[in-house]
Amino acid sequence: MLILGIESSCDDTGVALVNDGKNIIHNTLISQTEIHSTFGGIVPEVAARQHIIALGSILKEYKDLNLLENIDGVAVTKGPGLAGSLLVGVNYAKALSYALDVPVRGINHLSGHIHAAWINRIERIQFPVIALLVSGGHSELSLLNSHNDRILLGQTRDDAVGEVFDKVARAMGLGYPGGPIIDALSKKSKNNNRKLPITNISDSLDYSFSGLKTASIKYIDTEKNKYGKLSDEMISDIVYDFQDCAIEQLLIKLKMAVNLYNPKNIIICGGVAANSHLRLRIKDIFKMDVIIPEPKLCVDNGAMISAAAFFENVFKKETQLDLDIFPSLNLEEL
Ligand code: KG4
Ligand code: ZN
Repeated sequence: MLILGIESSCDDTGVALVNDGKNIIHNTLISQTEIHSTFGGIVPEVAARQHIIALGSILKEYKDLNLLENIDGVAVTKGPGLAGSLLVGVNYAKALSYALDVPVRGINHLSGHIHAAWINRIERIQFPVIALLVSGGHSELSLLNSHNDRILLGQTRDDAVGEVFDKVARAMGLGYPGGPIIDALSKKSKNNNRKLPITNISDSLDYSFSGLKTASIKYIDTEKNKYGKLSDEMISDIVYDFQDCAIEQLLIKLKMAVNLYNPKNIIICGGVAANSHLRLRIKDIFKMDVIIPEPKLCVDNGAMISAAAFFENVFKKETQLDLDIFPSLNLEEL
């Protein structure tokens, strides 16, 4: 089954043609990171307008390559995300569905991130699965009993973990997005003298990252006042400490969920799953293989939307030319 997946919920425009939710025929991503980096974060109206431009040029590419001829359906992110950005993708998908006379269905972006784990994978993934979704907007721990049965076990009570990577990087003037920059700089640290806190909400699988964010920014300001400017060595030590605390917090709850629910597989997905320290630490902690999609499928992309549509079997239901957007859609909703 050939499904065209369209993703435009935030600041990346992704379109992909995927066969049976696993084999990528064509995958295109236009990132707006450079445009938003001048503002230090995403500007919603700018993002929506950029999707209009990007989708036009991507779909022309697909048409010129004759990739739209045999598709069986169009799957598009319906939420959660920025309303303006979602509207652009959903309307594009509906127009395509009408023009090509194929069905269109809306997909939950969070299901997309989790289903990226199935793409290009030869080994079977068995249920129940514990999935940790960590990105710029999400930090959610869930239990999947099947592709369509997701139970939210825990989520952040304040900031998302990726958002905190971005804010701490900004406080140090390191640029945007902060995650990859912090990841690279922390490798230069030789210090493991921890000064920052690891938050652990007891009797809950929820996360909280605002305490670590505030403590990090306060510590950065104090050091700046003391020394005038942070040396490269101080920067790498601070980001190492911050990253270690953030990743340990993620792993404490993941370990707790694995002990409670005894899953057959573990998936870690979303932009923060690209973090090299996280990838190293899971090897120490879990005996079973932890599935992490390849980095280009961890970030927002169209292929994951196509994979979710295939495995959720959404085209068994009727087409959705009246499809609306759902900016606050939660992980459990189909
Ligand atoms: O999944 P994603 O592309 O977009 C959202 O849906 O949010 O995730 C982007 C987030 C950003 O906050 C970025 O700083 C973070 O993922 N990120 C990382 C790394 N690469 C991206 N965080 C930590 N380490 C990384 N290597
Ligand atoms: Zn995302």
